[in-house]
Amino acid sequence: MKVVIKLKMEILHEVAKKYGTPLYFYDLQEIKRRTRLLKETLKGIDFKVFFAMKSNANLHLLKFMRTLGLGADAVSLNEYRMARFAGFLPDEIIVNGNGKSLEDLEFYLKERPFCLNVDSYEEIEKLNKYGSKMRIALRINPDVDAKTHPHISTGLKENKFGMDIKTVSKIVKNLPPNLDLAGIHCHIGSQIIDVEPFVEAFRSLKKFVDDEDLDLQFVNIGGGWGIDYFKDGDGIDLKNYKNTIVPLLSSFGKPIYLELGRFIVGSAGYLLTHVTEVKHTSDKTFIVVDTSMADLIRPTLYDAYHRIEFLSNSDEIMADVVGRVCESGDTLARERKVNLPQVGDLGVIHDVGAYGYSMASNYNLSIRPAEVAYDGNDFFIIRRRETFEDLLNFMQQGGGE
Ligand code: LLP
Repeated sequence: MKVVIKLKMEILHEVAKKYGTPLYFYDLQEIKRRTRLLKETLKGIDFKVFFAMKSNANLHLLKFMRTLGLGADAVSLNEYRMARFAGFLPDEIIVNGNGKSLEDLEFYLKERPFCLNVDSYEEIEKLNKYGSKMRIALRINPDVDAKTHPHISTGLKENKFGMDIKTVSKIVKNLPPNLDLAGIHCHIGSQIIDVEPFVEAFRSLKKFVDDEDLDLQFVNIGGGWGIDYFKDGDGIDLKNYKNTIVPLLSSFGKPIYLELGRFIVGSAGYLLTHVTEVKHTSDKTFIVVDTSMADLIRPTLYDAYHRIEFLSNSDEIMADVVGRVCESGDTLARERKVNLPQVGDLGVIHDVGAYGYSMASNYNLSIRPAEVAYDGNDFFIIRRRETFEDLLNFMQQGGGE
């Protein structure tokens, strides 16, 4: 039980006993530590971080993020509304996303967030219809390979996001008068380990700004900082970032905005689960747990690695850790060395604070887990577990009874 857990096993046992499993558990001290780390890395430049809500949009965590001085990056109307609910003022919120509808744009034009990141030429045409004032940044797709999983790469020309330099240049020259071009934006992908793709992307932004002789209010470089899922140093190398990227960012001579999600909240989250069966076949051992791809889809969707520990003092074996959803893809770990647990033992899945709960579903009519936060002294529930009645209500209220 190597890593388990600075957070003390007793607390995890207590939480699991009090609220049941599966359950998402967040360590607020870790979020603070990560925020400090990122501030240290960016020291020397004028910057602001907007928390990417898509990674985790729990209302209480959002309120906490705000106390740490972060803004919010919202990618849908509902994320925007939740940010407002959490206390973020419109000018603390950046709006992102592709394919914004006319209804979305009308809403944002009334709200006037800090900035709207425009994803396409067509979006400019839609905004032009209204004539109301809006502060915008243009999202540049620099056609850079972020060397991450293809599903979470966003800065290649075959990806659906942003605009090529030519299109952005055309917009800059014919900007509708109601739009205030405040910045440029670029986000090349997520879970990026290597600093090279950032260098390439930011160099091409700099060249664009110089070529066009743009006088911007800021440069928004998106998010994407990778974390250390294997605990063997595979996170983004902050020293290298500081030495290589920070000088490049300084050269813009403008405030730098970031939209980080995973780096801030990823390592603060644990998914607690109980073992429901240990199944031996002629081929393998399957450890079946009471969570699944419905609660944590990353292993299924991206073949993502999450450390898993069973809080038992037995010998290690090789096993697959699987959920109870009726799909073979519902495998949380394949051929993994773990302590052989017994039915009823507690398991801890690590680094699930980002894109864990926020991607959970009701597949197989699974109910979404509860969420609990821990501030170093006390733990408290920040979202109750769904119930069967919740699922039923949606359908009955749809009138189909
Ligand atoms: N800004 C934009 C425009 C984004 O699209 C994203 C993430 C972020 C910021 C935040 O990126 P981060 O700092 O968290 O890497 N579900 C996937 C990740 C999808 C990321 C989508 N965009 C996963 O579980 O790995």
